[in-house]
Amino acid sequence: MTAKLNVNIDHVATIREARKTIEPSIITAAVICEQAGADGITVHLRGDRRHIQDRDIELLRDVVTTYLNVEMAATDEMVAIALQTKPDAVSLVPESPNEITTEGGLDVIGNIETVSSAVEKLKEAGIFVSIFIDPDTSQIDAAKRVGAQQIELCTAEYAELTLSSRAAHGEGAQKAAAAVSRIAAAAVHAQSLGLIAAAGHGLTYRNVGALAAIPEITEFNIGHNIISRSVFVGLNQAVKEMIEAIQI
Ligand code: PXP
Repeated sequence: MTAKLNVNIDHVATIREARKTIEPSIITAAVICEQAGADGITVHLRGDRRHIQDRDIELLRDVVTTYLNVEMAATDEMVAIALQTKPDAVSLVPESPNEITTEGGLDVIGNIETVSSAVEKLKEAGIFVSIFIDPDTSQIDAAKRVGAQQIELCTAEYAELTLSSRAAHGEGAQKAAAAVSRIAAAAVHAQSLGLIAAAGHGLTYRNVGALAAIPEITEFNIGHNIISRSVFVGLNQAVKEMIEAIQI
């Protein structure tokens, strides 16, 4: 079965926030992604509000008809927003103020009480809970222990290894293949625990195929590459091309 694609539209808001104005509209973006065949819309409400704003979540909640997944840190502030706006899913992610983008998965083991408490409150409100983690068995076990229903495997390392043509040959290709194997093993382990396995971060039209071939991965969250391509071919076409790229 082909994995689902949630399009992360944060960077439509990044352009808007560059001028603190009203365009481009993330609502229009969400509708175009859905009409192009996306299975869901993902946004990251960051503590520093550098792109997505609180009002965006409220508006998206009213407009998105497929699946609204909101990435957020496991803080009281963010959990309160989720409980009020009730997205279909919350993905708990680590956050540090100076990072350019999310750096690696959440350390569930090191933050077990905070994460457990957030998961419990979100699930009580009927929100599906995913945790973004590195492909690491002990972190997957911890995600299960805190009650997550899904894990999203961080593909940043694989993405980095496949950025250039080095990945096509010799040592580069071996390292990339090893990263795929680690992700596949993590997805198999997650599924054996009854967790749904998703994946994302840094995925592109060129590198997603090897992960789309892993049957245990049932969902991808992809943003930057789709929004980048949309600058040249339009969002509708960019989303359709990514759907094609993950079809096996
Ligand atoms: N998944 C998670 C948890 C993320 O934090 C991000 C980036 O916001 C993505 C997926 C999408 O990453 P990218 O924009 O590199 O496709």
